[in-house]
Amino acid sequence: AIERTLSIIKPDATRRNLTGKINAKFEDAGLRIVAQKRIHLSLAQAQKFYAVHAERPFFAELTEFMASEPVVVQVLEGEGAIAKNREVMGATNPANADAGTIRKEFALSVGENSVHGSDAPETAAEEIAFFFSGLELVG
Ligand code: CMP
Repeated sequence: AIERTLSIIKPDATRRNLTGKINAKFEDAGLRIVAQKRIHLSLAQAQKFYAVHAERPFFAELTEFMASEPVVVQVLEGEGAIAKNREVMGATNPANADAGTIRKEFALSVGENSVHGSDAPETAAEEIAFFFSGLELVG
């Protein structure tokens, strides 16, 4: 089925001017960028977005990092977009990521891992609605 998923290009990647190279990976895999904007999250916004991880030991590190510098939030659309995006990103920890994936090529560490992607249809819908209104999605 045609799906949409929420993607974030994280501060370690925007800082190193990798937005275009990462977008090329998505587009080469057949994912269409149907919405995109560059924003600087407040700490409160980062904490709200990652609320599911609030009890994890890395929550403070994660949210402070995500609020440290601009991010690019985007909606990717395509056949099986949620799984396809996860394939293109590679494993969360770049040490475990396959060759050719975004995290293998660009990530610095498990925290500074260049990209976020939704993990399931329900979270994709919630995460898209967190950042975008329906009017901003242009398929
Ligand atoms: P993401 O897909 O954005 O969802 C939660 C994030 O937590 C994950 O990617 C990692 O970047 C981050 N994360 C997971 N484990 C750790 C860790 N041990 N230390 C710091 N950040 C982590």
